[in-house]
Amino acid sequence: METTNETMKGRVCLITGATAGIGREAAFQLARMGATLVLAGRNEERCVNTVALIKEQTGNASVEYLVADLSVQSEVKRLAQEFQSRHGQLHVLLNNAGVINLQRMENADGIEMTFALNHLGYFVLTLMLLDTLKASAPARIVNVSSDAHRGISLNLDDLQGRSGYGGFGAYSRSKLANIMFTYQLAARLAGSGVTVNALHPGLVATNFLSGNGIRGKFLRFFLALKGMSPERGAGTSVFLASSPDVEAVSGLYFVKSQPAPSSPQSYDEETAKALWQASLQITELADLMPLPTDSPLHGAQPDEP
Ligand SMILES: NC(=O)c1ccc[n+]([C@@H]2O[C@H](COP(=O)([O-])OP(=O)(O)OC[C@H]3O[C@@H](n4cnc5c(N)ncnc54)[C@H](OP(=O)(O)O)[C@@H]3O)[C@@H](O)[C@H]2O)c1
Repeated sequence: METTNETMKGRVCLITGATAGIGREAAFQLARMGATLVLAGRNEERCVNTVALIKEQTGNASVEYLVADLSVQSEVKRLAQEFQSRHGQLHVLLNNAGVINLQRMENADGIEMTFALNHLGYFVLTLMLLDTLKASAPARIVNVSSDAHRGISLNLDDLQGRSGYGGFGAYSRSKLANIMFTYQLAARLAGSGVTVNALHPGLVATNFLSGNGIRGKFLRFFLALKGMSPERGAGTSVFLASSPDVEAVSGLYFVKSQPAPSSPQSYDEETAKALWQASLQITELADLMPLPTDSPLHGAQPDEP
């Protein structure tokens, strides 16, 4: 299939976790709209293959990749610098790479892996690229979260599950962190021309849960049975990345391309600010946007659809 329209022509999009699942499909869809794509993946061979396939199937030649393990802060920072050395502009940052680890694991930084990739990965990459996004305004940040964030709170004294770990709990908290980060960032970016929204893609049949042994295999079978196709699953990500309807919309949570209320806990501004400060400390990014904002918290409950 070839490029279907040129609505994203000249727009530079960086997509994380673009070698599989929802991120890969979002890359195909944005390529068909003529976007210039930079795919971020952890495995070079999968990056090469994905880029080749997208070019071949969409006719869009403006697709390249950068390799980094996004759970490791030094790699995220290096990737951001490599991106900036190649591109002066960034119009869409799609933070999508995410995992669920049923067993507790730590990365090379000694940080629990789910928190490191799903939350700190988004946090570090976004803050590192904020100046480029602002200079490219209008620009958008899209954070892939999940409805799994519902019914759970953050424990600020134990963000990394040291005193008791459950895979689903750690995943749900990381997805709650995505939403709190989105709302805090939207408040800080008010008036900058850069929007930021979070989303739930729905239940999608992807590689999610791989790398979790026999239990993961069983759960993936369920996902394959019940989940929608990645094509449909990428819909809300692509909508937020490209639609003129949300050009000026910021600080909301979307489900099925519509604003939706997130959990009551996700609107807890004190916890969100504390998470921001803790994340700044862990990532040693205190010089970037360190001050709490006085702007009203975004993430206001959307009007009834
Ligand atoms: N699937 C669902 O039902 C569902 C529901 C709600 C929310 N989500 C969210 O959707 C997002 C995408 O998930 P998916 O279902 O598309 O999963 P997926 O098929 O497993 O794809 C995940 C992507 O992230 C990449 N990735 C994993 N660890 C990485 C690391 N350390 N560094 C860099 N990249 C890494 C993977 O790379 P490799 O190709 O190298 O493995 C892959 O490209 C996640 O944020 C997830 O929380 C999914």
